[in-house]
Amino acid sequence: PSSIRKICCIGAGYVGGPTMAMIAKQCPHIEVHVVDINAARIAQWNSDELPVYEPGLLEVVSECRGRNLHFSTEVDSAIAEAEMIFISVNTPTKHFGVGAGRAANLEFIEKCARKIAEVARGHKIVVEKSTLPVRTAQAIKTILAGVSTGATFDVLSNPEFLAEGTAIEDLLMPDRVLIGGESQSAIDALVEVYANWVPPERLLTTNLWSSELSKLTANAFLAQRVSSINSISALCEATEADVDEVAAAIGMDSRIGPKFLKASVGFGGSCFQKDILNLVYLCEYFRLPEVAEYWEQVVKMNDYQKSRFVSRIVRTLFNTVSDKKIAIWGFAFKKDTNDTRESAAIYVCRDLLRERAKLSIYDPRVSPEHIRRELTDAMRNGDAELNATSAKLLAENVEIVSDIHVASSDAHAVALLTEWDEFREADFQRIHDGMKKPAFLFDGRNLLKDMSLSDYGFDYHGIGFSS
Ligand code: NAI
Repeated sequence: PSSIRKICCIGAGYVGGPTMAMIAKQCPHIEVHVVDINAARIAQWNSDELPVYEPGLLEVVSECRGRNLHFSTEVDSAIAEAEMIFISVNTPTKHFGVGAGRAANLEFIEKCARKIAEVARGHKIVVEKSTLPVRTAQAIKTILAGVSTGATFDVLSNPEFLAEGTAIEDLLMPDRVLIGGESQSAIDALVEVYANWVPPERLLTTNLWSSELSKLTANAFLAQRVSSINSISALCEATEADVDEVAAAIGMDSRIGPKFLKASVGFGGSCFQKDILNLVYLCEYFRLPEVAEYWEQVVKMNDYQKSRFVSRIVRTLFNTVSDKKIAIWGFAFKKDTNDTRESAAIYVCRDLLRERAKLSIYDPRVSPEHIRRELTDAMRNGDAELNATSAKLLAENVEIVSDIHVASSDAHAVALLTEWDEFREADFQRIHDGMKKPAFLFDGRNLLKDMSLSDYGFDYHGIGFSS
């Protein structure tokens, strides 16, 4: 096959930005052009305040930007010039119409396909990088087949397995790169790109549909492990077993393995819930209700874990948190990212607000405007307008501060919701001294479990053990 010299990527988000930066770094002979309709986001990619926080990302972008990595809003010309076009736009859960609350909203994918059909000339390889329901490539092929320009296309599926917070590491040394397709020459062209840094045994090629389905399945299995250990955490709290001990014991079984067995307040992130619900919807569509129900339980268990955490706080604080200050440590869905999509913190904060608590929120990477927007959306609860009570609670009971000491001063309790390393470095004596007594600390990540916080006087509660 002829080697690829020009790549375009539509969508400059958490996936498009880092993956293309890595391709540009590893393939100096390839011009990589990342485009997006969001001009503000593109401006950030062209600055030193990248829209995505990932350890090591700024270094990679700085090395390549202006050399063979470009960010712009010039969607049409980027498509026209590229030999290979990645589609890396968002595919959120649909919130209207048929399949609302489950199915993926493919509107942005379809718009990309139509845009490619409109401006492409000659031959293009179109690569699905976004996570899509199995058989989406069929729809893309059908749209592309309708062109009257004489342009021809191959469609590949190349789902992304990076995890936020470790994106650069994951992209540098992926466990595998999965490429699904029908045309051998198109598959070979993409394999050749990755072969610049990924060892050949990690380049896996399959048919299109296996590739599309593997991404949904991988996320479903990962989330299932979290929900499985979280379900056991509830039983541990009732029985004096300790979930971290149980996890260590089962994880030493090589058939189970040690990873992804950390009990917590619940998983978050833009992908797990959306992708499982997408899988559930597909199963229903293909008339497999038992399979749908099986996977849906993973999401239900996660919702239960979040609400169980709030109930425990309320119960422990003598059955009322009304008018009590609660310090929220961390708002991102996990450490080392500024992403808050579906973060457990959103739901914990919302439910505490509904109990009339006063929240003082600190996160080292998430902007105050972002936290407010997430909480406002959560309090709106799908309605167009905030009701008066919710608006008042948001205005009067939420403050966002830039320091855990300010957040914790005069608080009745701390709720630790993101496992940021810096929380382990806190001055716990000072925090304890500044709090109302008894000083409660609810650790949604078991991050401080080994730090003997009761020695400072805290009433410490974690996930999955009795205190
Ligand atoms: P994102 O929301 O951060 O980025 C998507 C970008 O696409 C946005 O900047 C948006 O403006 C742009 N966009 C939408 N429609 C467009 C159009 N018609 N033309 C040009 N630009 C357009 O989303 P993210 O997180 O990067 O996810 C992208 C896909 O990758 C999703 O399907 C997601 O499921 C998948 N994925 C996400 C992972 C993650 O950790 N965030 C990991 C693996 C896969």
